[in-house]
Amino acid sequence: MATERTLSIIKPDATARNLTGKINAKFEDAGLRIVAQKRIQLTPAQAGEFYAVHKDRPFFGELTEFMASGPVVVQVLEGEGAIAKNREVMGATNPADAAPGTIRAEFAESVGENSVHGSDAPETAAQEIAFFFAGIELVG
Ligand code: RTP
Ligand code: MG
Repeated sequence: MATERTLSIIKPDATARNLTGKINAKFEDAGLRIVAQKRIQLTPAQAGEFYAVHKDRPFFGELTEFMASGPVVVQVLEGEGAIAKNREVMGATNPADAAPGTIRAEFAESVGENSVHGSDAPETAAQEIAFFFAGIELVG
């Protein structure tokens, strides 16, 4: 399998509970390298632009308000099959369905406030990385 990069976000529910280090340890234990990382606060408009794919979903307003409610840590993870591997480490969207040991099983509070985001395909990973990071910020 090829080396890939994927975009990860540690969401406001997790930064509020000081879980950045514990979540990063899950990525590193799974063999993912954090090759770029910064802590920022999104505006609701920026959150809406990032999650534009969900703009017609009933939870869109709640999602963008939540994503702008506090700091997030945006990061690029690199590794063999990083996109799928990260989704495995994250666990299912709803923490009630997330496998034991996954980030969402251990830390997520609800289906909405679920601690992490991860890109779901190579095309979205490339777009989402470019949304937050300039090429000069990406070192291996
Ligand atoms: P993400 O994009 O954040 O990595 O999460 P995901 O792929 O597992 O889930 P997705 O279907 O893309 O949904 C994006 C985010 O929207 C919120 N959500 N709320 N209230 C609800 O029913 C609901 N459904 C989704 C979650 O924060 C989810 O991660
Ligand atoms: Mg998604």
